[in-house]
Amino acid sequence: MRPLHRVAHRGYSAVAPENTLPALAAAVLAGATFVEFDVRTTADGVPVVIHDRTVDRTTDGSGPVAGLTAAEITALDAGGWFSPAYTGIGVPLLTEVLDVLGPGDPVELLLEIKPPATSGQVAAIVGQVSGAGLLGRTVVQSFDPAVLRLVGEVAPEMRRGLLRDGFDGAQVEVARELGLAYCNPRLNSVLDAPGTVAALAAEGVAVMPWTANDAALWPGLVEAGVAGLITDHTGELTGWAQNVSSGALSSSA
Ligand code: G3P
Ligand code: CA
Repeated sequence: MRPLHRVAHRGYSAVAPENTLPALAAAVLAGATFVEFDVRTTADGVPVVIHDRTVDRTTDGSGPVAGLTAAEITALDAGGWFSPAYTGIGVPLLTEVLDVLGPGDPVELLLEIKPPATSGQVAAIVGQVSGAGLLGRTVVQSFDPAVLRLVGEVAPEMRRGLLRDGFDGAQVEVARELGLAYCNPRLNSVLDAPGTVAALAAEGVAVMPWTANDAALWPGLVEAGVAGLITDHTGELTGWAQNVSSGALSSSA
């Protein structure tokens, strides 16, 4: 049976504050084959790793990421909201994340660029990945096809993934036009339309649905032909996938 990618969503976000260095390190320790994280750009043009448009939910600050400088954002506490144990953990710069995930580890990076992003901002993000020597180990994904087109212009060799809430009507044609390596929809789309997963696979496009936190759904998603599962529960998925590869589960898996 083919290996199943174990994709840590915002790092191992079930056990550590999302998109922080501890969450990324925990993901690797828990057996992730991909670590997913979100990138936005500050008011002074610095790529930082944070999910929301504002810092309000995941830090002790407030305001839009795009309206704050890197110095202002990295001074915030991005851990205390999750647990007092993580008080003092900051919002990481993209360069810090690349430093942690880069050397000596085979894990792949699933870097989501949150829109809107200008061509200059996309070029800066791709440039940092390239500078870290991680072009070959990184997939850039986005909900915005325009962002993926910019990535293709800056670094044609970089693998690209399109995020979707649900599959588009002409998903294979869209994938072909964007030169996708991955098409990653909400998991219900996969369960509702396994034929689209097969059609994409025939085009060389892999599908990794999100956010697969309910283990009861994992066998059906694998049966539908997914290449990996994006989950907050990396450790649980690693253990389960071990059983899948060893054939210890029923044939429905
Ligand atoms: O990787 C899939 C997932 O990250 C997309 O949704 O909102 O968690 O970034 P979101
Ligand atoms: Ca994301």
